[in-house]
Amino acid sequence: MRVLGIETSCDETAAAVVTEAGVVLSDVVRSQVEAHAPYGGVVPEIASRDHARAIVPVIREALARAGMQPGDVDGIAVTSRPGLLGALLVGLSAAKGLAFTTGKPLVGVDHLVGHLLAVFLRRGEAEAEAPVPAYPFIALLASGGHTALYRVDAPRLSAIRELGATRDDAAGEAFDKTAKLLGLGYPGGPVVDRLAATGDASRAKDAVPRSMAHRESLEFSFSGVKASVMRHVATRGKPPEGQALADLCAAFQASVVGTLVDKAVRAAKVEAVPRIVLGGGVAANRGLRAKMAEACARQKLTLFVPSFASCTDNAAMIAYAGALRLAAGERDDLGLEPSTKTALPRVTRKGAGIR
Ligand code: KG4
Ligand code: ZN
Repeated sequence: MRVLGIETSCDETAAAVVTEAGVVLSDVVRSQVEAHAPYGGVVPEIASRDHARAIVPVIREALARAGMQPGDVDGIAVTSRPGLLGALLVGLSAAKGLAFTTGKPLVGVDHLVGHLLAVFLRRGEAEAEAPVPAYPFIALLASGGHTALYRVDAPRLSAIRELGATRDDAAGEAFDKTAKLLGLGYPGGPVVDRLAATGDASRAKDAVPRSMAHRESLEFSFSGVKASVMRHVATRGKPPEGQALADLCAAFQASVVGTLVDKAVRAAKVEAVPRIVLGGGVAANRGLRAKMAEACARQKLTLFVPSFASCTDNAAMIAYAGALRLAAGERDDLGLEPSTKTALPRVTRKGAGIR
């Protein structure tokens, strides 16, 4: 089965063709990051317009790279939630148009399920034999919009349970807001990651406490870490430069990464599941990858990390999650509607404060 995936939930216009086995035949991602950079974050209206401009060429390119015509696909998968409504509508309209004209089945995919299954994607020869996790697994999903731990018993919505999520900022959001505060531009994750590699966290650790407020729970809170960087900058009147900036980035990253690692390991212990899967843009962070690998080796847990391209937003993960729905005989009709909310049940209330 070859499935066309379409993703427009936030600031990437993406299309890909993927088989039911997760083999990526093509994967096109057009980032809008330059359009949003001057504003230091995603502007919904700009996102919708940019998706509308890019969607047809991006889909054409994905089909062409896979050597296919629209009629050759066995189904069309599209991100229907969660995301920006106006942005989601662009992908949904394109997907419905294609499904209508080709007569191929349509399925909506929850973006978070896409991230959780991205580890199964096979990109080229290098990944053909890469090990994949058995079910159940514990997944740490950390992106710009979401940060949560899940227990995944099977690749379908009803078999995925949230164990805990962030009560305030997502991890990627904390990276982005901190980078903005330090004058490092948008998106901040990759820049902070790069600077942190040359910094010494111990030299700035007093400026950034560890966000361990609710040590026993599987919930996260990152707004405090961001606030402490803000206070550090305010006290000095301007952001640090040179080595001091690198040290501050290293301390910030160590704090966020330390919490993500501790809670993921705790989730694996609580659920008695010996494997952890990473997903989402923050899983591209080299510090997180390294610390998670160390912790898993120490705790005798097996770690599965998707390739960089599979961590950040892409349509290949949507095509794959959609292929599994199609293979299970599931279909959506042309009335499929977007939603700002995930379909996964949530246990953490946002903004509820620390218990
Ligand atoms: O999954 P993603 O592409 O989009 C969302 O669904 O949000 O994640 C984007 C987020 C941004 O906040 C970005 O700063 C962060 O992932 N990110 C990183 C790194 N690369 C991307 N954060 C830390 N280190 C990185 N290397
Ligand atoms: Zn995402």
